[in-house]
Amino acid sequence: MQLLIKGARVVDPSRNIDGRMDILINDGRITQLGDNLDSPGARILDASGLVAAPGLVDMHVHLREPGFEVKETVASGCAAAARGGVTTLVAMPNTRPATDCPDIVRLVQAKAAFTGINVLPAGAVTLGQKGERLTDFTALKAAGIPAFTDDGVPIQNLALLREAMRQVKSLGLPLLDHCEDKDLVQNYAVNEGKVSQALGLPGRPAVAEELQIMRDVMLAEDTGAHIHICHISTGKGVDIIRQAKARGIWITCETCPQYFILTEQEILSQGSMARVNPPLRTLADVDAIRAGLQDGTIDAIVTDHAPHTTEEKAQPLPDAPSGMVGLETSLTLSLTALYHTGALPLSRVLSLMSASPAALLGLDKGTLEVGRDADLVIFDPDQEWIIDKNQFISKGRNTPFHGRKVQGKVKYTISQGNIIYQEG
Ligand code: DOR
Ligand code: ZN
Repeated sequence: MQLLIKGARVVDPSRNIDGRMDILINDGRITQLGDNLDSPGARILDASGLVAAPGLVDMHVHLREPGFEVKETVASGCAAAARGGVTTLVAMPNTRPATDCPDIVRLVQAKAAFTGINVLPAGAVTLGQKGERLTDFTALKAAGIPAFTDDGVPIQNLALLREAMRQVKSLGLPLLDHCEDKDLVQNYAVNEGKVSQALGLPGRPAVAEELQIMRDVMLAEDTGAHIHICHISTGKGVDIIRQAKARGIWITCETCPQYFILTEQEILSQGSMARVNPPLRTLADVDAIRAGLQDGTIDAIVTDHAPHTTEEKAQPLPDAPSGMVGLETSLTLSLTALYHTGALPLSRVLSLMSASPAALLGLDKGTLEVGRDADLVIFDPDQEWIIDKNQFISKGRNTPFHGRKVQGKVKYTISQGNIIYQEG
């Protein structure tokens, strides 16, 4: 099957391409890029006025299956990914059972096989994510995992973490770490600061995140392992990573739209809908995250897509689970907050959501190079619309961005040459 995409503005940050051209796809791969391409019999997709870019690579997604299918399934999460322009995603292991052995990796892979999305289950660092005994790293790697992480249940035991780093180093895979000190954050709901004070609640202090980032930097230097800090949310955290990178330590990091758009104030109007770990912080932190995106300290924009049911989120703030969905809004929020404000050029935003995470995971994705998989997102960069959680394909409706006016809309998502999403 041939597909000919006509007249798009092709933006491929992996090769510094930004210009109007056609893209020819054959048998799932990109076969030609150029002006006025013609191929008799090919299906024509008129993309004039639209941007065609590499399919997004979201390296932090909770698909919830197995075990929490009421929140999301691999199928529903992947359909949401397609609507958001995401063609490759890393699925977090805090399922039930946890993704701590090859059987569970294969189960998630099998569920994903027919979704059209390239789903890469991450392997748990510890058995059952209990933080006690390491999983069989070699076996998990052989099953095809791209990285190790205990996301959702941050690792506290330093001896275990150091040994995990030694092993990931020898296997050549990164360790993705959710940094928050358990004793300092307990199960608290919000950032420690003005809002926690106003509500009379104990808070999760920024230093709980920063201490563990500092700890990870030192252990990364000590072991030589590649450590990737998940969903960074504080200004000092960005500073620590900036300095560590300058010293040549192999550390990378990601953030999410909620951390460069929202502050802790959101809790006052939205309650548990704005509850997430790490928590929304201050305006100074938001500014520092944006600066980190601008100077390259932050390597990737991810969603931390964390669906929960309406009933769960309807509980009082201290009892409701943390997390927000993101797959269907990450591109438009990033375009709105970073590109349309002039903070970052379009190619940079797209690189943070495709080429850069692909590179740090060593994936052959995030590019429109001839010969590679034809994974693309085609979007109108300027179209204004209003986010409506009731339109989500995800089972999760837990977004603090419901009703927000945004700019930039996905029209088509193509995975290995197949149109897996088309607007309307
Ligand atoms: O807010 C969060 N929700 N942060 C995490 O680290 C885990 C996630 C979840 O699984 O719900
Ligand atoms: Zn996390």
